[in-house]
Amino acid sequence: MKVINTIAALKSLLEPIKLDQQKVALVPTMGALHKGHVSLINIAQQQADVVVCSIFVNPTQFTDPKDLEKYPRPLEDDLKTLEEAGCDVVFMPSVTEMYPEPEVWHIDLGPAEFLLEGEFRKGHYQGVTQVVKKLFDYVSPDLAFFGQKDFQQVLMIKNMVAHFNLPIQIISCPIIREDDGLAMSSRNIHLSAADRKNALVLSRALSFVKDNFSKLSIVELVEKAKVLIDETPGVELDYFIVANGETLLPENDKSHHDIVALVAAKVGETRLIDNMILN
Ligand code: PAF
Repeated sequence: MKVINTIAALKSLLEPIKLDQQKVALVPTMGALHKGHVSLINIAQQQADVVVCSIFVNPTQFTDPKDLEKYPRPLEDDLKTLEEAGCDVVFMPSVTEMYPEPEVWHIDLGPAEFLLEGEFRKGHYQGVTQVVKKLFDYVSPDLAFFGQKDFQQVLMIKNMVAHFNLPIQIISCPIIREDDGLAMSSRNIHLSAADRKNALVLSRALSFVKDNFSKLSIVELVEKAKVLIDETPGVELDYFIVANGETLLPENDKSHHDIVALVAAKVGETRLIDNMILN
């Protein structure tokens, strides 16, 4: 496994691979890798010849400086995880390598940018798409893999790819859960034992909605899911919505082909998100 820190070294490593017409996959991450990330690497390996994983805690997507400061950075463990997963290249640039100068960035990601996470974390998706665009420029992957856990992020990245007309296939990979249902996240390490238990209500509420989708109306499903969450101590709900998977607007028509339930809540001091595709 090659570990690269500069854009120049990354480009010269990838140039012969591209000339050789090998398929390159990119798995962008912010490190603190868990089984969810490993599953992205494994799926990428099945579809490409060379897998590049980036580890970069991108400052421009953090709306809360405290969140950026406390973001876990277990670099040695991450490298070991990637080595064991059989990753080919790790790109681990510094902040100055990625942002030599402060950049003003704004692209039109469509109205869904301002909903859900976009409402609670203003400017977040401009930061995400800014860094992902840079990574796409430096790696020029054929395919890029993202976790479905950040459902809105995948949508925003697809919109960014469409905006720039990039020849990159975006692949959303299934959420990996702990045995008890908690969606894997780099933020889970911040949960206390009590938070960890309380956090289970998020996947339970989503499963309730999925399991009862054909029996109850969407209004009833959302109402009951919200009650479940509101009754759980230490959990402060930001939103629970059954939405159209393309617009992220509330969906009331069960026959629509793309419906997803999305939730975000603060559990103790940690903000968690999760979702489930309903049809
Ligand atoms: O999902 C993440 O870890 C980040 O938002 C990403 C896509 C690596 C961009 O920094």
